Amino acid sequence: MPIAASTSRAQLEALRELSEAIIRCSQEAISIADAQGNTILVNPAYTRLMGLEEAQVIGRPVTADIAEGESVHLRVLRTRQAIRGARLRVGPHAREVIVNAAPLLVGGELRGSVGVIHEVSEIRRLSDELASAKQLLRKLDPRRSFDEIVGDGPAISRTKELARRAAATPATVLLLGESGTGKELFAHAIHGASDRRDGPLVRVNCAAIPEGLLESSLFGYQGGAFTGARAHGQKGHFEEADGGTLFLDEIAEAPLALQAKLLRALQEREILRVGSSKPVRVDVRLIAATNADLEAAIDRGTFRQDLFYRLSVMPIRVPSLRERREDLLPLSRALLARICAEYRVAPVELAPDALALLATSPWRGNVRELENVLRRGLIDKPPDAGVLCAADLALEDLGAGPEDGDAAPGRPRGLPELRAAWERQLLRAQLARHGGNREATARALGITVRNLYYKLKRHRLG
Ligand SMILES: Nc1ncnc2c1ncn2[C@@H]1O[C@H](COP(=O)(O)OP(=O)(O)OP(=O)(O)O)[C@@H](O)[C@H]1O
Ligand SMILES: [Mg+2]
Repeated sequence: MPIAASTSRAQLEALRELSEAIIRCSQEAISIADAQGNTILVNPAYTRLMGLEEAQVIGRPVTADIAEGESVHLRVLRTRQAIRGARLRVGPHAREVIVNAAPLLVGGELRGSVGVIHEVSEIRRLSDELASAKQLLRKLDPRRSFDEIVGDGPAISRTKELARRAAATPATVLLLGESGTGKELFAHAIHGASDRRDGPLVRVNCAAIPEGLLESSLFGYQGGAFTGARAHGQKGHFEEADGGTLFLDEIAEAPLALQAKLLRALQEREILRVGSSKPVRVDVRLIAATNADLEAAIDRGTFRQDLFYRLSVMPIRVPSLRERREDLLPLSRALLARICAEYRVAPVELAPDALALLATSPWRGNVRELENVLRRGLIDKPPDAGVLCAADLALEDLGAGPEDGDAAPGRPRGLPELRAAWERQLLRAQLARHGGNREATARALGITVRNLYYKLKRHRLG
């Protein structure tokens, strides 16, 4: 609070009493140290949290109440910088806390440090509650939005923009892209942003349903159509999706005979139940997805060209993770937060060396692979560590990726080749781990710097 020059001694004393009263009645645990590093004021919330009496800390060095970790007050007094989110264990019960502290500067002069202490278990309980509430909400609300598609780099932003525009129309959408890029996420977002969002979203995985059952599961069947069929027949997914969206995933896996029927359904906006000759009108928006090269499938004769044209009114190619490396950090953070919430553990940060390591991977499995690497890392890291380090991450796939242009997938590889790939992987991982520092990398590998340079050159990593 600003204090006028004319303030009298009595007024100053009243102000001091008021400030003290404010600190004492705060629900947040507060401790104040003088410039010499002795505790001069703590409030009841503090003594409660610490399990200490006021007399045990007042006038004592601030280190007295710390069980584990460096005193935040001393760091603030030394650096004159505020500190946020320091984690330590305090008091006789070694309670885990998070401390925010700031220097007390009066007219530019350092007078002490003020710290606000939060108990971690309380934060953990609240974040657990939040996570389960969020999960519940997700279940209750099938409407997913574009906000869940993390990343704001140019490639993904363009794709999101295109998908938003598609969502506003009734047009059929064809989602293309490698495995694990987020096609399913896009399908949900498009449905959720369309005027059909209150209608059903029915997903059919064409690769997961046995060929013989695909037609009846999509179009339904008439009573008595075949042995074992229900007497009154059964609706298919097209009818279930009436008024909503039908998401045909892995469309390239649909057999040719079914493709012909799909084409007819799209053209006529009506379907025939198996065993029936009476067409049923359906009002369905179709979204199809595949990670296959449909044009190649047309050349091979396994995909109908006319169906391809019908489907690709609005083709949307979801970029691979390699094409949007700028999103690696936000994606990793969002995925980590999601996994921590799912595992009900305190949020974990990503160490810079971990990010450097992630940046070296070709990510052939895209976001799904990234999610798996982080998931495994969380399980492998030391239980108390609040950060995920490069050492916790097991990147299996650091070998030559498609972007390196020298991979020949499908060809069996001999020992020399495997050894070279492994060496390359090791070099990249160690370089990343040491922030690109070659001396440190060579030392870690137990080879000379000259030898390292030679190897880097040979692997075209230099
Ligand atoms: N941009 C993104 N933001 C957040 N999570 C993502 C993103 N992209 C993908 N994911 C996550 O990655 C995983 C794989 O995504 P999804 O299932 O949508 O991929 P897909 O393209 O359908 O893959 P496939 O072709 O193998 O079926 C999911 O857990 C999804 O939530
Ligand atoms: Mg999918």
